[in-house]
Amino acid sequence: MPRDVIVACDFSSAEAVFSFLDKFSGLERKPFLKIGMELYYAEGPQIVREIKRRGHKIFLDLKLHDIPNTVKKAMAVLSRLDADIVNLHAGGTSAMMEAALEGLTRPDGTRPLLIAVTMLTSTTQESMERDLLIERPIDETVMHYALTAKNCGLDGVVCSPLEAGKVHEVCGKEFLTVTPGIRFADGDVGDQKRVTTPERARELGSDLIVVGRPITAAADPVAAYLRCVREFVG
Ligand code: C5P
Repeated sequence: MPRDVIVACDFSSAEAVFSFLDKFSGLERKPFLKIGMELYYAEGPQIVREIKRRGHKIFLDLKLHDIPNTVKKAMAVLSRLDADIVNLHAGGTSAMMEAALEGLTRPDGTRPLLIAVTMLTSTTQESMERDLLIERPIDETVMHYALTAKNCGLDGVVCSPLEAGKVHEVCGKEFLTVTPGIRFADGDVGDQKRVTTPERARELGSDLIVVGRPITAAADPVAAYLRCVREFVG
């Protein structure tokens, strides 16, 4: 997949997302979009179909995590929505990831890309030890989850840009790193803890960056998007 900027459409209604997307209608480049839980739970599968119909690529960020049979069946339903990327939690273990891939694969053998969330970036070494009883270093845990996902046949992981280089070392150059936590050098950090600029994310080896508020909350979202593309894609 060529390097690209994914815009996180963190809106809670179809009306809000379409009034945002209308600003981009004059652009030759159709932004790759992320639909997360907020928008999906508000509007249902129809929102994915409608955005797809407008010609955007879609990363459907629903982070599935359940018993293998349930995830397999849910993935079979999601595969009909024709998203380009879907995801799950690697914490569901390899049986769940393998079942997910089976469910996602259509009768003609095609399927959306499937990527895994390793350890959420909101999880700290301390909370991982205290609540999950995992005592290994968090970066080692993230790499182990990434390699397990790769061995199950998944296509990549969501991770911090700071982990992208190591993930490629461990899992190979082709294994996708999809990285949030992006801010412009002169922008607001908000609630993200460890942030990098689009340019730095490219240097660190991210394949796809996920950018929300620096674009959605900008005075001129189209200019902010184009700046991201310029800095990350070149
Ligand atoms: O607004 P902002 O650029 O911080 O948005 C980042 C997007 O990436 C949000 O949709 C957020 O939920 C998502 N994300 C994240 N960190 C992760 C996984 C997903 O920020 N580890």
